[in-house]
Amino acid sequence: MPSRSAKVSRDLVHHPVFARFYARQSVAAETVMRAHREELLAGISGRVIEIGAGNGLNFSYYPSTVSEVVALEPERLLRKLAADAALRAEMPVDVVPGAAEALPVKSEAFDAAVFSLVLCSVRSVERSLAEALRVLRPGGELRFLEHGRAPSGRVMPRAQKALDRTVWPLLFGGCHVAREPLAAIEDAGFSVVTYRRLLIPARGPRLPSSYCVLGTARRPGTA
Ligand SMILES: C[S@@+](CC[C@H](N)C(=O)[O-])C[C@H]1O[C@@H](n2cnc3c(N)ncnc32)[C@H](O)[C@@H]1O
Repeated sequence: MPSRSAKVSRDLVHHPVFARFYARQSVAAETVMRAHREELLAGISGRVIEIGAGNGLNFSYYPSTVSEVVALEPERLLRKLAADAALRAEMPVDVVPGAAEALPVKSEAFDAAVFSLVLCSVRSVERSLAEALRVLRPGGELRFLEHGRAPSGRVMPRAQKALDRTVWPLLFGGCHVAREPLAAIEDAGFSVVTYRRLLIPARGPRLPSSYCVLGTARRPGTA
């Protein structure tokens, strides 16, 4: 019989305390997040891969133009919750284990890929985006809603860097607050079509994770 440690090591991402926290906190945050999730997924169509789907909160926002979703989630508890959410979705949603850095799917198999609050947590942003580029058909869409480095000022960017080197990843399941998702998306070879910067939450004190960017990019080329 495999030992407990052997079992744990099979999980691609193992943050059970964070997973329990996120499962509760993310549902409570839906009053704020709902409009952003709607905007993220408006008009998306065809075969979609959602990378780091968490507990599946995006599933109810996919429009009927989506034929099928493959939802990848490496963390066991969140994957189980995503599988429950998939049962309530209006289109087929296949929840599978796997990590962004090595997507377990064929090349050019998807019309769209979705990252929502995930690039902050992956081990390699570069590798994850290269994988998204690989699995999208030429001309396929990348939809993203990510937080990152504050675009201006001196105090917050410095604080974010310090947090990334110390407590933040430990407290929040490997999350980082000083990454630059938009620049990384462009560097990966995507053409950014549209984006806007926003603060989440829009009102109240700014948190290290408040500085978000929401947009669409494309894999160059035509199908
Ligand atoms: C903040 S949660 C966001 C969940 C969901 N996308 C949402 O919008 O609510 C970050 C998610 O990224 C996942 N994650 C962490 N590392 C990952 C990796 N290397 N590949 C794919 N997903 C990863 C976590 O398990 C978690 O579900």
